[in-house]
Amino acid sequence: MASNINVYDRTGFLYDAVIGPISREARDRAVVNLNLPPEGRLLIAGVGSGLDLPHLPSGVRGVGVDLSDGMLRRARKRRAGLGMPCFELRKMDARSLDLPDESFDAVYLPLIVTVAPDGPGVLTEAARVTKPGARLVILDRFWPEDRPRPAAVRRAGALLGSLATHIDRRFSEIHAGAPNLRVLDDETLAPGGFLQLITLEKPS
Ligand SMILES: C[S@@+](CC[C@H](N)C(=O)[O-])C[C@H]1O[C@@H](n2cnc3c(N)ncnc32)[C@H](O)[C@@H]1O
Repeated sequence: MASNINVYDRTGFLYDAVIGPISREARDRAVVNLNLPPEGRLLIAGVGSGLDLPHLPSGVRGVGVDLSDGMLRRARKRRAGLGMPCFELRKMDARSLDLPDESFDAVYLPLIVTVAPDGPGVLTEAARVTKPGARLVILDRFWPEDRPRPAAVRRAGALLGSLATHIDRRFSEIHAGAPNLRVLDDETLAPGGFLQLITLEKPS
């Protein structure tokens, strides 16, 4: 588990150069789908280097958490450039958030549920801190539900998971962490259908 955090710690510059340009449009869409009310509080689980920050409404309130010091350093620099005094950045494990129940008006999970070793556990925690009736938006890349996963793919998933991301996770496996969340929308985006944007709602 520590190893993929170590990789993110050291590769922030490369990450931004590769993932930044291909994910811009998807991030814009994700922010719309969050449906964050004015003055509402947003949580970003696995905020990384802060690639989403320029897409957020100015004056946004809330917190972004991540376990990588290197990624958080980049996010803090980006936040300073944008001037976002009400958006905190904290080192915290998305699988055990030190945040109160039902305290956020929207929760965003960009490229984290396939990265953390316990993806369903990340969704469980995200659901716990979401207010009833509020939305959670997942931006990620999932293995298709109807496509088998040969042994070689499972082995590659385990190896790549320890370095960067688990390529073999299905959304249904993540959803099992908080099955009460209702799927409002599920669309494929970005070049070549590279990313999936899933919008969920916590029941009132
Ligand atoms: C693929 S990057 C995505 C970063 C950012 N969300 C984005 O969309 O560009 C995955 C991020 O998740 C963070 N991460 C992995 N496991 C985590 C955990 N358990 N808690 C918090 N952050 C975690 C990594 O440090 C890394 O910054």
